[in-house]
Amino acid sequence: MTMPTTETGTQWWRDSAPELGYWAIDRHLAGFADWDAVLASGRAELARALPFLCPGRERTCLDLGCGVGRLTFPLAELFGSVIAVDVSPAFLALARSHAAGKNISFRLLQGSELSPTVIEPLDVVFSYEVFHYLSDSTLRRYLLDARRLMRAGGELVFEANTQPARRGSEVKREIRRCLNVAGVRRFRGTPTHSGFATVHRSEADYLRIMAECGFSGACLTPEAGQQTWFHATPA
Ligand SMILES: C[S@@+](CC[C@H](N)C(=O)[O-])C[C@H]1O[C@@H](n2cnc3c(N)ncnc32)[C@H](O)[C@@H]1O
Repeated sequence: MTMPTTETGTQWWRDSAPELGYWAIDRHLAGFADWDAVLASGRAELARALPFLCPGRERTCLDLGCGVGRLTFPLAELFGSVIAVDVSPAFLALARSHAAGKNISFRLLQGSELSPTVIEPLDVVFSYEVFHYLSDSTLRRYLLDARRLMRAGGELVFEANTQPARRGSEVKREIRRCLNVAGVRRFRGTPTHSGFATVHRSEADYLRIMAECGFSGACLTPEAGQQTWFHATPA
């Protein structure tokens, strides 16, 4: 069986994920209808990264794969300015509708590189729940661009799923594909579309890719899991 490419994934996030509503961003948001609850969940997720972040009114933070801005708005309270990028025009439109007067610039990415969408020097490159949806080549391109744009003293802080592939996952993928063809859009808490596929990378894989892209980093969480945090600085 051929593996779905993450370029398919990028296309799904861009074109179809927003139809699922906030739930597409995080299944725990399934029951949330209101914006305040979405922001509260973003604040709670960001709280885990606070010990690793160096905020500052003179610092610029990039939120890579910002979605509807769940963590972008809390980030904007910590930094002088935030540039928030995503591939989904619908997510960005929703984020922008809440952004009047805020120190945030929401921008549409084509989906495989930061330039020319982001050209400013950056102090922090932040990403939450995005990198495990990216192919190796896209992840590398983003990290190389981030390294190039990063100011001295800059830092890369991100979270990604590092859970190993489970036994039987090929069979489960095929079941989900059939369900999707039959019109079932979600099953057991996740979308059935092949574009939702996660790329399995271990902590060591992320550290290696970061090093190859010019970052010296560390994994901040003790074991592989759904939420593994990383911190890196230019090597
Ligand atoms: C699970 S959501 C996380 C959104 C946000 N960080 C949050 O936690 O609320 C994954 C996000 O990655 C974005 N994404 C998918 N492929 C991408 C790509 N190639 N480049 C940038 N963002 C991408 C999706 O549009 C989506 O907003």
